[in-house]
Amino acid sequence: MKLIFIGPPGSGKGTQAKRLAGRFGIPHISTGDMLREAIADGTELGKEAAPIMAAGALVSDDLMIGIIRDRLAKSDASHGFILDGFPRTVVQAEKLDGIVGNGTEPLRVLQLLVPDDAIVRRISLRRTCSQCGAIYHLENNPPAAGGVCDRCGAAVVARADDTEEAVRKRLEAFHRQTLPVAAFYKTKSLLREVDGVGPVDEVFERIEKSLA
Ligand code: AP5
Repeated sequence: MKLIFIGPPGSGKGTQAKRLAGRFGIPHISTGDMLREAIADGTELGKEAAPIMAAGALVSDDLMIGIIRDRLAKSDASHGFILDGFPRTVVQAEKLDGIVGNGTEPLRVLQLLVPDDAIVRRISLRRTCSQCGAIYHLENNPPAAGGVCDRCGAAVVARADDTEEAVRKRLEAFHRQTLPVAAFYKTKSLLREVDGVGPVDEVFERIEKSLA
């Protein structure tokens, strides 16, 4: 399965992609997670990406295409993958076609539909593990032991780009730069839309049905 998740910030792409990756035994490739790791490691990429991400803007296409080309060349992605956060522009989508080529397994593209007002509530209460990236929500799915991760015990924190101003910019970027990506795949008849509102388990069931 070669699956792409499209959806606004906070729509549940990461939450659902992690579950699906476990179900299908394929890697969950999140460009946001990769960039946050680079920032935590203090690499040149991280230094370049940090201010752009904090402002809620998009990192350059050239940089992101290079990162994805290298990642998809790794052996664990040879039998399938779930892309979360890429492609985010039509230029990235066109380049991805060239990277994945005309393999036997066609790309599947799933768009999670969540209205903007629900997004703001989800993101303001999101917390993420600083070590393993596990995703929590202070109301719906809080860590069992307060401020530490259930899985690895590291601190659970708010993301640097989850400020009100950055979220507004990220939503703008989604509408202006990423919705055309959904249209790009719609014209190729690859796009499936899934209602992303409701309990996480219900959304997961809808996704499974849509992929069946
Ligand atoms: P990225 O990390 O991809 O962020 P995003 O797209 O803004 O998405 P989020 O991670 O915020 O949300 P999500 O949809 O994964 O939701 P989640 O599952 O966490 O990118 C960050 C930045 O990196 C970008 O702004 C950009 O600067 C840069 N970048 C990355 N890729 C790039 C690219 N290709 N090109 C250029 N720049 C790039 O859920 C959110 C919250 O809601 C959680 O608390 C969760 O518990 C809760 N939740 C989930 N599902 C439900 C539900 N059904 N009901 C209630 N709550 C729910």
